[in-house]
Amino acid sequence: MRTHTCGDLNESHLGQEVDLCGWVHRRRDHGGVIFVDLRDREGLAQVVFDPDTPEAFKTAETVRSEYVLKVHGRVRRRPEGTINPKMPTGQIEVLADHLEILNKAETPPFPLEGDIEVNEETRLRYRYIDLRRSEMQERIKIRRNVTRCLRNFLDHHGFYDIETPFLTKATPEGARDYLVPSRAHDQAFYALPQSPQLYKQLLMISGMDRYYQIVRCFRDEDLRADRQPEFTQLDIETSFLDEDQIINLMEEMMQHLFKEILQCDLPDPFPRLTYAEAVRRYGIDRPDLRIPLELVDVGDLMERVDFKVFAGPAGDPEGRVVALKLPNGCELTRKEIDDLTKFVSIYGAKGLAYIKINDRSAGKKGMQSPILKFLPDDVVAAVLERVDAHSGDLVFFGADRAAIVNEAMGALRVRLGADRGLIEEGWKPVWIVDFPMFEWDEQGQRWNALHHPFTAPAESIEQVQANPGKALSRAYDLVLNGTEVGGGSIRIHQAERQTAVFRLLGIDDDEAQEKFGFLLNALKSGCPPHGGIAFGLDRLVMLMTGASSIREVMAFPKTQTAACPLIDAPARVSDAQLRELGLRHHKPQSDKG
Ligand code: AMO
Ligand code: AMP
Repeated sequence: MRTHTCGDLNESHLGQEVDLCGWVHRRRDHGGVIFVDLRDREGLAQVVFDPDTPEAFKTAETVRSEYVLKVHGRVRRRPEGTINPKMPTGQIEVLADHLEILNKAETPPFPLEGDIEVNEETRLRYRYIDLRRSEMQERIKIRRNVTRCLRNFLDHHGFYDIETPFLTKATPEGARDYLVPSRAHDQAFYALPQSPQLYKQLLMISGMDRYYQIVRCFRDEDLRADRQPEFTQLDIETSFLDEDQIINLMEEMMQHLFKEILQCDLPDPFPRLTYAEAVRRYGIDRPDLRIPLELVDVGDLMERVDFKVFAGPAGDPEGRVVALKLPNGCELTRKEIDDLTKFVSIYGAKGLAYIKINDRSAGKKGMQSPILKFLPDDVVAAVLERVDAHSGDLVFFGADRAAIVNEAMGALRVRLGADRGLIEEGWKPVWIVDFPMFEWDEQGQRWNALHHPFTAPAESIEQVQANPGKALSRAYDLVLNGTEVGGGSIRIHQAERQTAVFRLLGIDDDEAQEKFGFLLNALKSGCPPHGGIAFGLDRLVMLMTGASSIREVMAFPKTQTAACPLIDAPARVSDAQLRELGLRHHKPQSDKG
């Protein structure tokens, strides 16, 4: 139907006869001449209709936004004064002599240009139109370029792209499963995979050596800006590589990706932080290293002060007292500090003590603070020394159970970074390593795997059994600008070790056999040492496009309540369909189909 795409026309086509197809982006009538900006995926071309071709002109008078047209005409240079240097096709236009309306369109529910002020629900309901916007077209294009680049890299490095089943059994990645009832097997359900974790390990046992897959994962969990019920992983597994080799290869892949897509150089090598150090300095295991603020322990200085709020946690092995220096923080008003106090209370902090250092040389007289009266001069001096405070700075304090302090002060650090414009430009990747094997589940009174139950411990099983809380794993996460973009580990490749870890997790041998018997058997069949990683592709593309949420880089995302307003999913099914599956509504409902 067409000889060229709209966006690809340029001066090299001057004088040529062309056929273009596309959507009416804009139509302007200029006293006897009609201009149509015709749009396709590649861009816009200006098409001119003048009364010398009366039939085309008459038809052009009837076209409206988003009509689909086929145009025939000749490419010519735009007259002086109408050249648009901002448009790739801004030097030329097409003088049309034929126009065919391929299809009409109703008025779009929202404008396709500029900053649109329309709620997300509406955008998702009309996603096919939303995706026509140049911003969305650009994001989808970058996403395609990202996956192409990753595939090329992995292909070049000997990885096979292998598909794994969606109708499968529960994979423990810490979320709820999406279940699919089986018609052929009474009372049995498939689970949609939370990740292809077990299949990729089985592929290593099969001798596939290097595997990757760009694959959908399904997790029924509480949704946030960077979480969706179904999302895409770049999933990778290799045999015979240790964690340093995997980390190095993945680092090379990321450097290559950012160079290709964004023409920028990531650091080489990426810095590494242990989990313990990340939590100590940033309160979190996915620190945004673009923010030049750090938590500094001051518990040792507070053990003997009269101020219970500090002395209590300082003397408690489960407690923590930290200082967080905000350069030039004296500028903060009372109201701003009150707002921040409210903010940290979301994370369970009972208050937010602070010292304003108006004039450091004046000692306590140069300071302003609700807690100075509780703290001896030498303690205050030692704190200021430790955080290297200068006149004009403000020091915040957090004191409580360590978990609360880490969460609250870690979040405060990020909030201050954003509010005070302290976030540095550029990309700050960091590997987090030396994760604990387990975390204690207070409610269930048991150990849970921090990564997943197939992650290899860094120590012998005897050492792990002796002190599960202190045991480290061979897991690693890649964090980029404060977002966890990937996580992986070296896996357990011996059945006895896997069984021992299951036991530590409170999975007895019968349950292990029922749930993971296939894995335990496979591990006994000649399993190579292996490990891998999975990247959140949506998160990666979100960061690379500067989008505010992963929904902005997915063609058809779900809402915060895991619904799709476009096709109206999830939906009721008929009683007949349920009956066939051997299911029944708990409460009788009308058959809405
Ligand atoms: P993990 O659970 O850490 O590891 O997931 C890997 C990466 O997937 C992304 N991610 C998500 N993205 C969007 N929405 C979600 N709900 C969501 N959940 C996770 C994150 C995360 O870093 N099988 C292991 C990997 C392995 O060990 O190789 C796994 O799935 O960016
Ligand atoms: P109070 O003695 O409760 O009036 O608290 C004195 C100051 O300490 C106030 O500025 C509180 O915001 C602050 N504060 C109270 N509890 C904590 C805490 N757990 N961590 C940090 N600061 C606190």
